[in-house]
Amino acid sequence: MNEIIRNKNIYIQYDSNEFHNFTDKLFSIDYITKEGLIKSEINGRGKTYEIELEGRRFILKNYIRGGLISKISHDKYLFDSMASTRSVKEYNFLYILFKKGLPVPKPAALKVIKNKFTYTASLITCKIQNNGTLHDFIMNKKMSLDLWNSLELTLEKFYNENVYHSDLNSKNIIIDQENNFYLVDFDNSYFFYKKKLFKKSLIRLERSLSKLNNYKSEMKKIIEKFN
Ligand SMILES: Nc1ncnc2c1ncn2[C@@H]1O[C@H](COP(=O)(O)OP(=O)(O)O)[C@@H](O)[C@H]1O
Ligand SMILES: [Mg+2]
Repeated sequence: MNEIIRNKNIYIQYDSNEFHNFTDKLFSIDYITKEGLIKSEINGRGKTYEIELEGRRFILKNYIRGGLISKISHDKYLFDSMASTRSVKEYNFLYILFKKGLPVPKPAALKVIKNKFTYTASLITCKIQNNGTLHDFIMNKKMSLDLWNSLELTLEKFYNENVYHSDLNSKNIIIDQENNFYLVDFDNSYFFYKKKLFKKSLIRLERSLSKLNNYKSEMKKIIEKFN
């Protein structure tokens, strides 16, 4: 069940099935630090926190800008409507993909702090227990032929459901204990209309892999498959 907390300029939404005692303080870095809830920190574009609450693990992400504009504004976005904020869009998109049975994290909570014309945003997802990212697996020479095939089958599921991932790279793909692949980080992602957009995301992924030393030609095979 979706619960909403509104307090002046703050909008919070959470899934009450995921929390016994939800507190909006979960979004406060000070609070989760003091309470010892942080289990690890992941350095992506911004800082992402793995937190433990009531024996369950969650991932807290604060939306951070990339590119040139980040020099002007680190984490502020222009506010248009609540529905078009980064966290509401990613939460809703993830929810649809999760319900379709695609391998993505289940969204659990989101927060938007609105200022005059701008807002900052955060998202909490349920943690997917994993053994590392595709990047880690390639670096540690753990990618086998079976795993490449599993990745290809995973990408096919997203292709068949017309899902465009706007930042498909080796760190937004994680692998669990049973060698299942999951995609994370659906900020700015959407259902595509033209199938060729999917290839664009594969080329983006290939670019992220080509920076790695022991990258082989498996990605090329995958790209050809989606031609
Ligand atoms: N639900 C999740 N379960 C497990 N790991 C996750 C989850 N969400 C994110 N991660 C990990 O945290 C990293 C950063 O999160 P991400 O959403 O990609 O944020 P950023 O926008 O900073 O790249 C990911 O690359 C992935 O390794
Ligand atoms: Mg990412």
